[in-house]
Amino acid sequence: MYTHSLSLPTKIKLLLQKGLLDTNIQLSNFLIAKGVSDAIRTSLGPHGMDKVILSDNEILITNDGATIMKNAKFDHPVAKLLVNVSESQDSEVGDGTTSVIILSGSLLGASINLIRRGIPGNRLTKCLGIFLEETKKILLKIAIPINLKSSYTLYSAACTALESKVISSHCHILAPIVVKSILSIIDKKKSFNVDLKRIKLIKKIGGTIEQTELINGIAIDYPVIKSYGGPNNMINAKVALIQFSISSPSTDTDNLIVIENYAHMDKLLKEEKQLIISFCRKIKSTGCNVILSQKSILKESMCDYAIQIFAQMKIMLVRDIERDEFLFIADSLGCIPIIDIETFSSDKLGSVDQIEEKNYNAQKVLIFKGVRNPRIKSSTILIRSSNKHLLEETERSLHDALCVMRSIIRRRFLITGGGAMEIEVALSLKQYGKTLTGINSYCFNAFAHSLEIIPYTLCENAGLEPIEIISRMKKYHMNGKKTIGINTRRGILGNMIKENIISPLLVATSIFNMSVEFAIQLLKIDSIIET
Ligand SMILES: Nc1ncnc2c1ncn2[C@@H]1O[C@H](COP(=O)(O)OP(=O)(O)OP(=O)(O)O)[C@@H](O)[C@H]1O
Ligand SMILES: [Mg+2]
Repeated sequence: MYTHSLSLPTKIKLLLQKGLLDTNIQLSNFLIAKGVSDAIRTSLGPHGMDKVILSDNEILITNDGATIMKNAKFDHPVAKLLVNVSESQDSEVGDGTTSVIILSGSLLGASINLIRRGIPGNRLTKCLGIFLEETKKILLKIAIPINLKSSYTLYSAACTALESKVISSHCHILAPIVVKSILSIIDKKKSFNVDLKRIKLIKKIGGTIEQTELINGIAIDYPVIKSYGGPNNMINAKVALIQFSISSPSTDTDNLIVIENYAHMDKLLKEEKQLIISFCRKIKSTGCNVILSQKSILKESMCDYAIQIFAQMKIMLVRDIERDEFLFIADSLGCIPIIDIETFSSDKLGSVDQIEEKNYNAQKVLIFKGVRNPRIKSSTILIRSSNKHLLEETERSLHDALCVMRSIIRRRFLITGGGAMEIEVALSLKQYGKTLTGINSYCFNAFAHSLEIIPYTLCENAGLEPIEIISRMKKYHMNGKKTIGINTRRGILGNMIKENIISPLLVATSIFNMSVEFAIQLLKIDSIIET
């Protein structure tokens, strides 16, 4: 029904139906991988098209390569292997997940031609091994070192990552948020990695993407309990994170309490209330004025009577915090989680200048400003958008840009975008190919040529003339202008550093590693055995 559905790319389906797939299993695998790669090509770059993915009546609109691949339900094992490639790229570096698929397809396209000319697969795998080593050497030569003090360069790299997304028109708002959030949690001199889990992304429907903000402090996506008039704002907060329930004790399954009359029942209820009051008093005596309690699967984390008493004591309450967020919040606020009332003491509390509940279109977010002794530095980005699909795509895009920042922190080098790096590497590889002899030189040339798929696709998607532009780019590069690429937004050739189209070296290295390894892997497969 949906002619462009990616459940099994239409192109491959047609090829299968018409029996056009090669009877040679190796070539047939290559054609399938190439079919998948071609299907995703239209998503590359700032003019890349978005895909609508339908699954279980849910709609997903995305431009992100890894998300498209993950959600496309491929049946063929080779297509599934290609999904793994984009997933690995996503988990390694977070960006370049479309490029890795396109480059894999292009390398396989070159391999198909070479195999059809009678060159054996093992010759190609050997050649691809040398190709990868040489590429990495060239990348190191052309990479531009970066200093983390230059926030403008970081901003440009974040912008390049965001420019090719659905939310590209908002990159001037989102890129500074990404850079500031990263810089707020690292030490520019000492950090050589960053844990992105420390940047919390909270999504709130309502408002526009322009209203997305970096929260000055930590924020959590939980409402304050306001029944019985408890406070929702606290200055000089002393925060306790509790992992136990504040309610009357329940009997275990083997025991039974027999209530004989009303007097007995009254006595029991009174005793329960006294117990809860004693818990609340003990907590109040430590100076605690804010309680965050962990969600419990066995019983309610706080009974109604306790909520009432805490409200009278002007203690702020937030309950049912998910287990996987609890430790992060504890570290961010400098609290030690408290496991029972006996061990509740003031030294386990975190100190915060102000805690305030903010309203975003009737949805609450609790903001902690001025945490005095955090164990880890963390930050929060509050994403706003008018609809769910855009909100989710903004989250994915911000994640990509944050991954780009992480790649730069890990390896402080950048490479030029807009196809400039691919053209420079391809020309240098062809130069190297001349030092080889016979078939090796021929194959090397063919693989080097396959890198041109990236600038070609960028131009094609932007409605520009690829052949003419690539030949002009090559001319510049042969004359030593190594940074000339195509700015498809402006439709001009230019110095990619001045045009601020740059990406991390780590992303590029990973694209080459993964696509070459995938091509080698496929070249070694000669049969698929169904069990
Ligand atoms: N203004 C621009 N002009 C030309 N090319 C650009 C521009 N901005 C970004 N690019 C290029 O777009 C490519 C990245 O596109 P895109 O982000 O769609 O794919 P990806 O990074 O491979 O995959 P994904 O982001 O889906 O994980 C890079 O080659 C980058 O250099
Ligand atoms: Mg990208």
